[in-house]
Amino acid sequence: MSVLLTNIGELTTNVATGDDLLGTLHGAAVLIDGERIAWVGQASDAPAADEVVDAAGRAVLPGFVDSHSHIVFGGDRAAEFEARMAGQKYAAGGIRSTVAATRAASDDELRARLRGFLAEMRAQGTTTVEIKSGYGLDVETEERLVRLAAEVTPEVTYLGAHVVPAEYADRADEYVDLVTGPMLDACAPHAKWIDVFCETGAFTVPQSRRVLEAGMARGLVPRVHASQLGPGEGVQLAVELGAASIDHGTYLTDADVAALAASDTVLTLLPGVEFSTRQPYPDARRLIDAGVTVAIACDTNPGSSFTSSMPFCIAVAVRDMGMTPSEAVWAATAGGARALRRDDIGVIAAGMRADLAMLVAPSRVHLAYRPGVPLVTKVWKDGVCSR
Ligand code: NIG
Ligand code: FE
Repeated sequence: MSVLLTNIGELTTNVATGDDLLGTLHGAAVLIDGERIAWVGQASDAPAADEVVDAAGRAVLPGFVDSHSHIVFGGDRAAEFEARMAGQKYAAGGIRSTVAATRAASDDELRARLRGFLAEMRAQGTTTVEIKSGYGLDVETEERLVRLAAEVTPEVTYLGAHVVPAEYADRADEYVDLVTGPMLDACAPHAKWIDVFCETGAFTVPQSRRVLEAGMARGLVPRVHASQLGPGEGVQLAVELGAASIDHGTYLTDADVAALAASDTVLTLLPGVEFSTRQPYPDARRLIDAGVTVAIACDTNPGSSFTSSMPFCIAVAVRDMGMTPSEAVWAATAGGARALRRDDIGVIAAGMRADLAMLVAPSRVHLAYRPGVPLVTKVWKDGVCSR
């Protein structure tokens, strides 16, 4: 079954041409054949197809690649958010209350919730989602979380080292023994990635190294939460270990920026976090100008960022982090694909997966220009149109 999307006012391909990193085409068409893109070019040259969809001058772009989420959990923390908006500071300790609610939830409850978030994301143009565990923090629950995540995405991250659970208070090294031993044994078969929250109040650099190296020894690839609440050595550790991404990077030193620029490690910005914790926004301009590869993700979770909207995160990145609309759209598509080391998504070209989003707007700039407006009108994932 082939589908031709034609009369596309502005097509963002992310196939760089000359100065245009986003490879923008006007008056273009895209042929989808099964799960893949078969052809991209000018509408006037388009081949025949079983079905034709007239974009009527609208913008089409790659589906968003949301490379950082925590969407398998129980309960919420609206009261914590309310207290924060009244002046209380964000602290990682709130994670423990979600752990209690998650342990108490059944698989079916967690699955229904997870699928609800995925549907929300899809409606907003997201076609690939990475999902982390980290609200179980015991062997049984962490295994449930990675297993449920693996039902819906290949991009599953084992984050047993999210924080030290209450029952291991003052015994963090013993908890790391569990994370790198029996918990890893139970979770590794369901996961692709190993992650750790390397931060004061969570795990030290030596503990983080143990976690990442144990995961790597099992074939998992590292990605790291670091420099969210203050500067630290997590970025240097991530670069040294060849992590695919360091995420947050709210407080980066010049040495961190230089190390990232000289590496293959992507810096994943999470604009929803600064937005909903009232922390200072990182300066994306400084990063991009230094040559760092930047991705944008939602970090959907009940504590620090409970948005599931990539368009919202793009708008905040443009308004408050100094990105141009085009840079932000690239970061939310091709940048996310780099952060997940995927070469089959994030780009609209023959042979790539047919993951696309159509906007009720003539250009991608409207994603930042019209914040909060539901501009995504049609989404294709693996060639299947869900709206
Ligand atoms: O990515 N940084 C650590 N973990 C999450 C927050 C989790 C929570 O507050 O529940 C994050 O921001
Ligand atoms: Fe996170």
